[in-house]
Amino acid sequence: GGKMAPPRRVCVTGGGGFIASWLVKLLLSRGYAVHATLRDPCDPKNVHLKQMGEVRENLHLFKADVLDYDALTRAFEGCEGVFHLATPVPEDKIVDPEAGVLSN
Ligand SMILES: NC(=O)c1ccc[n+]([C@@H]2O[C@H](COP(=O)([O-])OP(=O)(O)OC[C@H]3O[C@@H](n4cnc5c(N)ncnc54)[C@H](OP(=O)(O)O)[C@@H]3O)[C@@H](O)[C@H]2O)c1
Repeated sequence: GGKMAPPRRVCVTGGGGFIASWLVKLLLSRGYAVHATLRDPCDPKNVHLKQMGEVRENLHLFKADVLDYDALTRAFEGCEGVFHLATPVPEDKIVDPEAGVLSN
């Protein structure tokens, strides 16, 4: 048989976050190679990303604060798309995002 085509490659910023983690899992299950950016790849709260099973070789972790242009540029290299989910989510201000929108 011939060589397998290389996987399509995308970046997910803030890859350890709540929504981002599920997105990374979905993308891996669909055969994508994923560049996940994390502010601190060694933080124990990101360990679930490293445990994403059989497709782990398609997951690449990048240390990048979203305000660090050079670090982000490295994480985006070779990617055809970026899912930008890294964002400060202040617990004390956004209690219920939907209600916040509706009440304005
Ligand atoms: N969850 C919901 O129900 C919901 C509903 C509506 C809208 N949203 C929106 O969806 C987005 C993601 O929400 P979420 O619930 O997944 O939040 P989350 O779990 O707090 O994820 C946010 C991620 O952003 C990262 N981050 C924050 N500041 C950063 C910085 N300067 N550089 C790099 N990374 C940074 C955090 O990384 P660290 O771990 O390093 O802090 C965290 O992993 C937000 O915009 C939120 O408002 C969420």
